[in-house]
Amino acid sequence: MKVDVLLGLQWGDEGKGKIVDVLTPQYDIIARFQGGPNAGHTLEFEGIKHVLHTIPSGIFRDGVINLIGNGVVIDPVIFQQELDKLAPYNLDIKSRLVISKKAHLILPTHRLLDAASEAAKGKDKIGSTLKGIGPTYMDKTGRNGLRVGDIYSPNFKEKYTSLVNKHKNILNHFDDFEYNLGELEGPWLAAVEKLKELPAIDSEQYINDAMKNGKKILAEGAQGTMLDIDFGTYPFVTSSNTVTAGTCTGLGVAPTKIGDVIGIFKAYCTRVGSGPFPTELEDEVGEEIRKSGSEFGATTGRPRRCGWIDLPQLKYAIMINGVTKLSMMKADVLDGFDTIKACTHYLIDGERYDYFPYDVSDVEVVPVYEEIEGWNSDLTTLSSYNDAPAALKNYVEYLERNLEVPITVVSVGPDRSQTLNNKVLA
Ligand code: GDP
Ligand code: IMO
Ligand code: MG
Repeated sequence: MKVDVLLGLQWGDEGKGKIVDVLTPQYDIIARFQGGPNAGHTLEFEGIKHVLHTIPSGIFRDGVINLIGNGVVIDPVIFQQELDKLAPYNLDIKSRLVISKKAHLILPTHRLLDAASEAAKGKDKIGSTLKGIGPTYMDKTGRNGLRVGDIYSPNFKEKYTSLVNKHKNILNHFDDFEYNLGELEGPWLAAVEKLKELPAIDSEQYINDAMKNGKKILAEGAQGTMLDIDFGTYPFVTSSNTVTAGTCTGLGVAPTKIGDVIGIFKAYCTRVGSGPFPTELEDEVGEEIRKSGSEFGATTGRPRRCGWIDLPQLKYAIMINGVTKLSMMKADVLDGFDTIKACTHYLIDGERYDYFPYDVSDVEVVPVYEEIEGWNSDLTTLSSYNDAPAALKNYVEYLERNLEVPITVVSVGPDRSQTLNNKVLA
């Protein structure tokens, strides 16, 4: 069996958590391959809304293993808080959740470094989630990091202290940055002890054995393609590879073992944090989308920036990821619009660009739009794509023609049940 991948094609928050939860009954293993508690994946069913940060979105379904891969970074404190939130649901976590020994640990000082670095950048700040993601991946590539496997070592405390001392030296170079490490350290070390209660495994071996034994595996991306460290809107990106290739390095899955790549996008577009966003609407239309889509961050609560769908951006993401199927999310958010716009290309210095160019920060990027008729009706109660208004089908077909990949799922509300299979193409 090959590993299917589900990942975001925009700037994150496309609705990955919801669709992974919907697809989980078709899989034996759900595996996160990158990112960490910067992610906020929302699932809604039976009237309850759950937000997961580090734990894969298959955790609520019986008989499914949830794997946290080597490419993920874990903050033991946030991880424990997530587990505490799940406690009322009596899920047998110990039989459902496994963690790679090679996953890196986010230390309290990584969070402090993230905060100090962002404060020092002033108006040029990345808009990081302040979870310590950048500094943790820097220590990973700098070959200083601590990994889950280290917590079992008799020298763990020394390794920890040595890294913390390095961090203190760096923190001393930031002017006016005050911190109290003492109050963070105790809870962190206690959470590390709790982490030991869960199975830490050689996950690359585990996942490859599972594939050999015919198990069906879905890799769950975090963030989105435009936040990828290599292909995103650098430097306003996260510090991991969020694209399909990240599955190979973040789980130990060979490129020849990648199956379907499900790319997910909103019927419009959002971004949270700083950085370029060519189709951003800083007017009442953007405000209307934010209100109708409740576009506020699942991790930080920050208002998300909103805009129209961007076809050159999506085509770029589809190309980089090798997307084989698309899921269009939050179609219902556009229920009240007479017309919808889609950006077909950009004008930069009067020149036409049909693709996402290198520089979108220091030049004026003028998005050129095509107007499409809206459906102007309530999609949230639809139970079949066949019954969808003609204007919605027209929008879906328009996108399929332009993106050259079938849209097999259309989501019309946050609940598990508000998910339509595009029967025409499925
Ligand atoms: P993720 O990070 O990609 O998992 O996405 P988030 O959970 O951060 O953000 C997506 C938000 O949209 C969450 O609040 C979801 O409950 C919600 N959502 C997902 N699909 C739909 C949909 O089709 N319609 C509406 N209205 N909300 C949706
Ligand atoms: P999910 O998985 C949206 C953004 C931050 C910031 C930049 C860098 O829920 O889609 P970081 O904390 O990673 O150093 O922040 O990336 N960002 C996200 N935006 N969804 C996410 O995850 C994000 N994770 C990070 O806002 O601009
Ligand atoms: Mg999110």
